[in-house]
Amino acid sequence: MTQKISALNKKESSWSGRFNEPVAELVKKYTASVGFDYRLATFDIQGSIAHAQMLGAQKIISLDDVKSIELGLAEILQEIEAGQFEWLLDLEDVHLNIEKCLTDKIGDAGKRLHTGRSRNDQVTTDVRLWLRATTDYVVSGLGNLQASLLDLAEAHFDTVMPGFTHLQVAQPVTFGHHLMAYVEMLKRDVERFQDCKKRMNKLPLGAAALAGTSYPIDRELVAKKLGFDGVCENSLDAVSDRDFAIEFTFAASLVMTHLSRLSEELILWSSPRFAFIDIADRFCTGSSIMPQKKNPDVPELVRGKTGRVYGHLTALLTLMKGQPLAYNKDNQEDKEPLFDTADTLLVTLEIYADMLRLPVIENGVVVKAGFTVNKEAMRQAASEGFATATDLADYLVKKGMPFRDAHEAVALAVRHAVDKKVDLSDLPLATLQQFASEISQDVYAVLTLEGSLNSRNHIGGTAPVQVKAAIARARAIKM
Ligand code: ARG
Repeated sequence: MTQKISALNKKESSWSGRFNEPVAELVKKYTASVGFDYRLATFDIQGSIAHAQMLGAQKIISLDDVKSIELGLAEILQEIEAGQFEWLLDLEDVHLNIEKCLTDKIGDAGKRLHTGRSRNDQVTTDVRLWLRATTDYVVSGLGNLQASLLDLAEAHFDTVMPGFTHLQVAQPVTFGHHLMAYVEMLKRDVERFQDCKKRMNKLPLGAAALAGTSYPIDRELVAKKLGFDGVCENSLDAVSDRDFAIEFTFAASLVMTHLSRLSEELILWSSPRFAFIDIADRFCTGSSIMPQKKNPDVPELVRGKTGRVYGHLTALLTLMKGQPLAYNKDNQEDKEPLFDTADTLLVTLEIYADMLRLPVIENGVVVKAGFTVNKEAMRQAASEGFATATDLADYLVKKGMPFRDAHEAVALAVRHAVDKKVDLSDLPLATLQQFASEISQDVYAVLTLEGSLNSRNHIGGTAPVQVKAAIARARAIKM
């Protein structure tokens, strides 16, 4: 929803009785949060309705007042959704803007809404409600991305590629196995968000400014109406801590870390030096000077935006660390980092799910793949760099040689092959036997890429049959 924020030189404010001079214009701009916290509006209204209904049920305000408040707030919600609500900078934040508009509409009943409540418990209730909804979007975004990864992994369950350690060819793996590593990471990410939601989903309202309120409120009733799992049990903690926002941002930072690693790989793989994949043009741009260039902008930006999200995490942690209990205005600074974290994460997940997608038919139209895989280049790279050297060592161990000796014998064989510029499997049997007399003709089966893959046949291993099983297990979890 696009909203217009305007300035209006109003004389009075909600605390004007205590002050001798109006707040300076620059200070108003400095302290106002409506320019960003208007995003909480629907949740602010939802919270106010639940609070008013509780006040009515407890006979703190009349049922007629509750009715007027409900109708007034419903009207305001419509105006906001239609982009017709006039947000005023002078009214500082989303809460005071809505309350003032309500009072203009319904009179005294509007002034009674804030009974037994403070903006301190109100704002953190709003943020929790907003973040709860946002967490659900994030979890579903993670699910869509996992779905793309699973389809891709299934299509490449036996596609051979070199596995790397230290970015040196290490052992052959399947591309499906490599992709499934990210499915695992995202699975833990989903759990982290679900877990963080449990702690976030507690009601602060009732804490009022910091110490609770003298009215006979019913906090459980408000919690139930708003779908909270319970109430925050200490009023000082309820209004002051933002750990739930920090946890969310931490979980988001980890997702970005995972996607940044994958991005780094996509960037490498799409470089003509690797040529393992070709990222679809819709995710790339050209160069204004070098006509041959096709740059992997999207993965590069994901890697770059990861730094931005880490920055927000640091900002939020630093925001909290020096604050004495209870609420301090510092906390107003929680929103922009949090909003930007969520915005960055959600759009990243959406673009990524598309970039990793196999071609699919949607509404009768073939939606293009996110990238194409050059199986030949992957295979070629796996056959260079002695990816099956460990298999040869294991072969010798199975013939009775101690592992350390086998390791040394193979290292010497590799050095010989490097000198001759050939692969281990190109060496004649007689040559191989110079390094270990245990070697016989059956060694060549071990030195093949498929032989190597198939031998790692246990849960978590790269054998294609295990990759298939891992995909089936992941699909069985409701994502
Ligand atoms: N806009 C404020 C915030 O975001 C609302 C709470 C203001 N409370 C106060 N005591 N000034 O934190």
